[in-house]
Amino acid sequence: MIKRPVIIDCDTGTDDAIALIAALYSPELDIRAFTTVVGNVALKYTSRNTLNLVRHLGFDTKVAVGAPKPVLREEIIYSGNKTHGDTGLGSLVLPETDKPFYEKTAVETIYEEAVTCGGELELIPIGPLTNIALAVMAHPDLKEMIKQIVFMGGAKYGGNITTTSEFNIWADPEAARIVFASGIPLTMVGLDVTRKAALSSQDTAEIRAMGTKDAVIVADILDFMLDRHAKGGEDALMHDALTVGVCINPSLVKMTKYYVDCECSGKYTSGHTMVAATKLFRNEPNCFVAEELDLTAFKAWIKGAIANSAKKPRFL
Ligand code: BDR
Ligand code: CA
Repeated sequence: MIKRPVIIDCDTGTDDAIALIAALYSPELDIRAFTTVVGNVALKYTSRNTLNLVRHLGFDTKVAVGAPKPVLREEIIYSGNKTHGDTGLGSLVLPETDKPFYEKTAVETIYEEAVTCGGELELIPIGPLTNIALAVMAHPDLKEMIKQIVFMGGAKYGGNITTTSEFNIWADPEAARIVFASGIPLTMVGLDVTRKAALSSQDTAEIRAMGTKDAVIVADILDFMLDRHAKGGEDALMHDALTVGVCINPSLVKMTKYYVDCECSGKYTSGHTMVAATKLFRNEPNCFVAEELDLTAFKAWIKGAIANSAKKPRFL
């Protein structure tokens, strides 16, 4: 099998961590690097969580540190972190690795890999789009070198931070606008679809029974999420893992190509992804938008990927 070179840009995060594990055990992917960004929690936590997780599972994939704040805005204002816990991984505590981060920044790592991969590199951002926008601005030739970007963020309808806005896009709307205007082929896996990608206690039991260190970590995170849900918080929604799954196998969702832009200035709508689902809008479609989920196929994919951890040496 020819592996597809990808970079996963993440703000690890509970559901990000599960996405990373599923990606690490997906034989279709050649993960060239993980790049980290401020998002669910501060950059120091998203970066340590990513490095500690990847090294704890025995992978030597590069982890490059990215942006500590959005492109233009000074900071992301959190109103407490009930979704991911104070340091991002819920109740999971990973051993601190003494291995270093990659010496280059996220932006320079993306550019370096884009050059190395000769037009084949795909990006999977599962946090705010800050690093991607900064890379596009720093390297005007990058646009021609990225095969596609499949990102978690936005929604055709609704939001989870405000009525209109999803977290990843709300956190850095200017970055999203730069990415939408970049001309790079885009697929948006938005909240209205990822909200349907929930795992249950039965799914958690099946994953735990796989028995590998990796599967147990996933199950522990899922238990935290299910407990969170029981207390009135978000369900065990696999926003980010679904995005990795869609990159590997687009048929997990139904998609339509639309013109999409991001609202940056609205007093109540900042971070809204405007999906022009009307022919009256004249701009050319620039982004595939996921609209419906095949939940059965998604669950089969994610469990299959995690089950691959039992055959780890084949993928290392
Ligand atoms: C997105 O925000 C984060 O909470 C999740 O990791 C996901 O990337 C969902 O809005
Ligand atoms: Ca995320």
